[in-house]
Amino acid sequence: MSFNIPQPEIVVGLDLGTTKVSAVVGEVDSDGITILGVGNVPCRGLRKGVVSNIEWTVRSIREAVEAAQTMAGVEIRSVYAGVAGSHIRSQASDGVAAISGREVTQDDVDRVLEGARAIPVDADRMILHALPREYVVDTQDGIRDPIGMSGVRLQSRVNLITAATSCLQNVIRCVERCGLEVADVVLEPLASADAVLSEDEKEIGCAVVDIGGGTTDLLIYTDGGIGHTSVIPAGGNNITSDVAAGLRTPMAEAERLKRNYGCALGRMIADEEEIEVPGVGGHAPRKVARRVLSDIIEPRVEEIFSEVRRRIEELGLLEQVSAGAVLTGGAVLMEGMNECAEEILGLPVRLGFPMGVKGIVQLVQGPQYATGVGLVRFGAQQLAEAHSHGRVALGSTTVADAENDAPRGNGLWGWLRAAF
Ligand SMILES: Nc1ncnc2c1ncn2[C@@H]1O[C@H](COP(=O)(O)OP(=O)(O)OP(=O)(O)O)[C@@H](O)[C@H]1O
Ligand SMILES: [Mg+2]
Repeated sequence: MSFNIPQPEIVVGLDLGTTKVSAVVGEVDSDGITILGVGNVPCRGLRKGVVSNIEWTVRSIREAVEAAQTMAGVEIRSVYAGVAGSHIRSQASDGVAAISGREVTQDDVDRVLEGARAIPVDADRMILHALPREYVVDTQDGIRDPIGMSGVRLQSRVNLITAATSCLQNVIRCVERCGLEVADVVLEPLASADAVLSEDEKEIGCAVVDIGGGTTDLLIYTDGGIGHTSVIPAGGNNITSDVAAGLRTPMAEAERLKRNYGCALGRMIADEEEIEVPGVGGHAPRKVARRVLSDIIEPRVEEIFSEVRRRIEELGLLEQVSAGAVLTGGAVLMEGMNECAEEILGLPVRLGFPMGVKGIVQLVQGPQYATGVGLVRFGAQQLAEAHSHGRVALGSTTVADAENDAPRGNGLWGWLRAAF
C-alpha cells in the first residue's frame, strides 16, 4: 500500500473499546504506513461500545496516548477516533447530477455523493459516512470509478451510515478533554475491515465479524461495497460472566480461566483434561473437567454466530458472501472459535490479522488490534486524498461542530464536503 504524500506525516488511530483504549501511532509516507508506537490501556468508561463514563474514558485515553507517544517519540496532537455501538444504522440513498455529455470529473462525483447525503435524517442523528456502492452513468450500472466516462446523467448509489449525535459528541468530548483534536470520527467495524480484508475478498463478498468485549459488530461486503452493518449486543464479557456464574468464581478468575483454557467447541477437548478453579468467599479451590468450562462457553458463542447467520440470511446475502467470514476482536482468540464459526455459518472462516503496515508490527499483530490499525489506514487514505485534491490542511472535528451538525466528522466524504 503506498500513499501519494510529499513528506512523512503522523497519523494516530484511537480505538475506544468496551475493555480497552488503544492508541496506534503510524508514520505515513509514499512507501506506506510504519507503526511507531502503541499504547494499550484497560478502560471501563464504555458500555457496549458507547461512552458511559466520561471521566474514566478520559483517563484511559490520556494514559494510552501518553504511552503511545513515549514509545513513538512524537507528540500526538490529533487522532482518528473510532465510534461503535447499536445506535449505528445504515440506509441506502441515491444522488443524481447532470453531466450533459462531457466527461465525469471529480467535482461531479463529489456532487452526486453530496446529493446522496441530502436526505432528511432524524434530528438527533448525524451522517457518519456516505459509502459509495456503485455509480450509474446513463443506463450503465455497476461502475466503481466513473471519472473520465461520458454521459448525460451520473448517479451514485450510496450506503449512508448514521450515528446518534449524542454518542458522537461524547467521543469527541472525551478526546478534546485530553487536549487532543479529532481529525475524524470513523465507524470502528469499517476500520477493522479495512485492516484485515484483501481487495479480492471485498470484491467477491465477505462478512467481517468483530467480537470485542461488549459487542459483536457485523459488516458485510458485497460487490466491492458495504452492503450492511449492524451490532449484536453480546461479546467476550458475556462469555466471562457466564463462566463466573457457571463455575461460581470471581470475574477476574473467570476471565483468566477463559483466556487460558476456554474453548468454543467442547468436542475438541479430551475428557481427562482438568483445570483448577479458585473458590469464592474462602472456599477451597477445586478441580473441574476442562469440558465443563467449554460447556459453559459453547452456548454463548453459538448464540453469537447463530445471530450473525440469521442476520446474513435475513438480508438474503448468504450466497453472496462467498469469500467467507473474517473474525476480528479479542474474543476470537479463544480456541475453537474458527471451527465453531465455520460450522454455524456454513462459510469458510479465517482470523483477521491487521495487514498493510510495517515497523513494530508485533505490537499490533492480533485480531484485537484490527480497529486501531484500520483507523490509521483510514487517516492515511484521507491524507493522500487531501494531497491529491490539493487540500493539505486537514481540519478537525469539534464538539461545537457535532452540536451544529456541521459537516466535519462525517468521514472521508464529509471532510471532502467541508473542504469546498
Ligand atoms: N486469549 C483470549 N481468549 C479468549 N478471549 C479473549 C482472549 N484475549 C482477549 N479476549 C477477550 O476479548 C475481549 C476484548 O476484545 P477487544 O479488545 O477486541 O474488545 P474491545 O474493543 O475493548 O470491545 P468492543 O469492541 O466490544 O467495544 C474480552 O472479552 C476478552 O476477554
Ligand atoms: Mg473493539
